[in-house]
Amino acid sequence: MYHHPLLLTPGPTPIPERIQRVINEPMIGHRTKAFEAVAEKAYKGLKPVFGSKNDVLIFTSSGTSALEASMVNLLNADDHVAVIVSGAFGNRFKQIAETYFNHVHVFEVAWGEAVNVASFIDFLNDLPANVTAVYTQYCETSTTVVHPIHDLGEALHQHYPETYFVVDGVSCVGAVDVNLERDHIDVLVAGSQKAMMLPPGLAFAAYSDRAGKRFAEVKTPRFYLDFNKYIASAEKNSTPFTPNVSFYKGVAAYAELVEDEGFNNVIERHYIIRDGLRAALKALDLPLLVDDEHASPTVTAFVPPTVEEVSAIKNALLDRFNITIAGGQGKLKGKILRIGHLGMIDTADILQCVSALEVILSELRNESYIGRGTQAYLEVVKEYV
Ligand SMILES: Cc1ncc(COP(=O)(O)O)c(C=O)c1O
Repeated sequence: MYHHPLLLTPGPTPIPERIQRVINEPMIGHRTKAFEAVAEKAYKGLKPVFGSKNDVLIFTSSGTSALEASMVNLLNADDHVAVIVSGAFGNRFKQIAETYFNHVHVFEVAWGEAVNVASFIDFLNDLPANVTAVYTQYCETSTTVVHPIHDLGEALHQHYPETYFVVDGVSCVGAVDVNLERDHIDVLVAGSQKAMMLPPGLAFAAYSDRAGKRFAEVKTPRFYLDFNKYIASAEKNSTPFTPNVSFYKGVAAYAELVEDEGFNNVIERHYIIRDGLRAALKALDLPLLVDDEHASPTVTAFVPPTVEEVSAIKNALLDRFNITIAGGQGKLKGKILRIGHLGMIDTADILQCVSALEVILSELRNESYIGRGTQAYLEVVKEYV
């Protein structure tokens, strides 16, 4: 039977028609007044989403480029650096750090759990030297945990005011309330293909004033990803290299979409869908990986009771219902499934997914699940729709 395709991975995510339309417009030159007008809208329009006073820098490269840039622009070779590793993307930060720097201190957090702020401060206290910067994910996409970024920023500010705080928000910026000054963040990184509803291929970085000064002093070699070049260009509504002109138009359209819906409403929508989906999965006897307090508003992981169910559910969703979800990564590969609910996702999309799960589970388990998940889901979201 025909089903509309439904992309429910934690990136890439569906592209809204308004963004798709501007991306498809005829090409314009990037050294033109017309492009400057687009770039200005993009740089300025992202500021409320990142909670940034400064223009948000844009790179024509995927999210990892901005993770790397957030290291090579802030740290010198012999600086000490702390990396919180709570999943596959924490590991990526660790790998980048070890590529460039000599003193990388890793704070391991069990996969599926959030960082304990007091324990992390104890860890910093016990290190042989003060670290120049701390790196963490906001949402660790591989486990679907959100870390307590505000509390972490506050604690660092209190105990280590000189330390820079760098946050990988690739899989949640655009769906969470974040503010560089309030949360004491120095660099906040994001990617286009997640809550920002664009195709893959752009990365973003917001930065604090003190980080901006530091970029100019750091000696680590870098060329394409030198933040100083991007800051100087953004001041002129320009770019240091040939940008993805079409996606810049998409960013400007994204900023308009957020303004139209209201950013608070965008955030609320993500949390309501999260809560509804969690209620549904519990009702379907699909245990959740993460506790309520640290569950991401953008992606939800569940642990089917058998390995057979892991692949059967994922395959049946795609083959029979045209719904794409994600599997596990790293040590969770083959053990969990993840449903992305970020960007242009509405309550009906997840209802469709929950009802498909009911059909699939009824067959797999020889027991009727019809109505169980959808009822639990609607009991939560009905207050808001
Ligand atoms: C938290 C997080 N960081 C970094 C990345 C890497 O981004 P990219 O694949 O765009 O380089 C991802 C991608 O899924 C992510 O979820």
